Amino acid sequence: MSRDTLTITDNRTGQTYELPIEHGTIRATDLRKIKADAEDFGLMTYDPGFMNTAACKSRITYIDGDAGILRYRGYPIEQLAERSSFLEVAYLLWYGTLPTESQFREFTARVMANTLVHEQTKRFISSFRHDAHAMGVFLSTAAALSTFFKDVKNIADAKNREEHFIKIVAKVPTIAAFCFRHSTGMPVAYPNPELSYTGNYLHMMFKGPELNYKPNPVLERALDILFILHADHEQNCSTTTMRGIGSSHCDPFTALAGAAAALYGPLHGGANEAVLRMLNEIGSKDRIPQFIKEVKSGEGKRLMGFGHRVYKNYDPRARIIKRTAEEVFEVTGRNPLIDIAIELERIALQDDYFVSRKLYPNVDFYSGIIYEAMGFPVEFFPVLFAIPRTPGWLSQWEEQVLDPEQKIVRPRQIYLGEDVRDYVPIEERSAEPVHG
Ligand code: CMC
Repeated sequence: MSRDTLTITDNRTGQTYELPIEHGTIRATDLRKIKADAEDFGLMTYDPGFMNTAACKSRITYIDGDAGILRYRGYPIEQLAERSSFLEVAYLLWYGTLPTESQFREFTARVMANTLVHEQTKRFISSFRHDAHAMGVFLSTAAALSTFFKDVKNIADAKNREEHFIKIVAKVPTIAAFCFRHSTGMPVAYPNPELSYTGNYLHMMFKGPELNYKPNPVLERALDILFILHADHEQNCSTTTMRGIGSSHCDPFTALAGAAAALYGPLHGGANEAVLRMLNEIGSKDRIPQFIKEVKSGEGKRLMGFGHRVYKNYDPRARIIKRTAEEVFEVTGRNPLIDIAIELERIALQDDYFVSRKLYPNVDFYSGIIYEAMGFPVEFFPVLFAIPRTPGWLSQWEEQVLDPEQKIVRPRQIYLGEDVRDYVPIEERSAEPVHG
């Protein structure tokens, strides 16, 4: 018998099946051969939340959650954070290799030349209320941008896809900054292609009446590092959404808007915002034990910024962010929330509730504290996750488009509802218990 097979005996029929194992997986569709009788549809798997289902083969990002390892295209995140730049990482994610000097020069020039958006975008953004949540405005605007590029629908063309990768990476900081300026009532600051990607972003966000805004190099670099750390994270909720929407052959702007919507939630990219609100609610170190008690009481309160579906160890991104925070505070002054966060981490990591469940700080635990110190409003934090995740989403989408094994996403269900029954006219009905 071959070593790389799984033998299953179906006790209903006494029949034995041998299923091939490849890359540590069996094909779910192979299970369909296992039938109770000739009429049977065949065996399926039940996996809410895709806890144990690989939906694609990917060559982009590698995570070993137990060891706390994260690599983009084979490069350790620690090396990229220390030595690379966000745009270089964007290049790496899409093209699969690090660029040469001339390739990088050309790529940077192309991105920076595409940072402008259609003037109508401003009008569109201005129709939102000034206090609309930044992420709602951002993702609506991202979706709206698809209508400005008629050829974006031509996803079968490789050159077209690459051109839109450049355009989208170039334009997301601009729409994000325009959303911010609308919320503050400030006139927009148009992109300055002479600056770096993150320097230009800071310029579009924070430029006042001065003629030449010069981003602080420490903050510019810190933001670049944060962007590198957020650039991709394999098949998380928003990337899976990107792939799911993309599987219907939708254009990448629209798929990206859907991915951003998935990111918005507090269990995913909205966690950085939730962490800040949590730290403010705790308010001082002496209130931490009471907060931890409430989290452990099982009444639904969570320690935001802790825990991860994949990492069962310290998230390597959190370690780098914690270090970066200190560099930022040298410029901005210390954000007092960091001391509450550090103490919260210390107490949680000594507590059996968190230790036994392998709950460690994730990327969102410290990022918000830096963003706040840099002057970003709390509700803007999820947008600061969406901008750098853009090349990751698009690279995953490109990989899916090129993968001949991919199909339109369409899971199965286990139907547990009513059996067939006849329609009753409204006047003859009696009230039935309502169920969800
Ligand atoms: N605080 C308290 N308890 C927690 C937490 C937390 N943050 N996270 C998980 N648990 C408990 C959970 O109650 C469960 O306990 P029990 O076994 O007694 O029922 C156990 O740990 C396993 O949790 P789970 O919800 O089954 O784990 P999951 O893999 O489905 O969820 C998660 C992962 C990230 C959604 C979750 O850990 C969480 O809600 N964390 C807080 C939100 C957060 O920080 N999200 C950002 C994630 S990193 C950025 C990104 O990529 O999105």
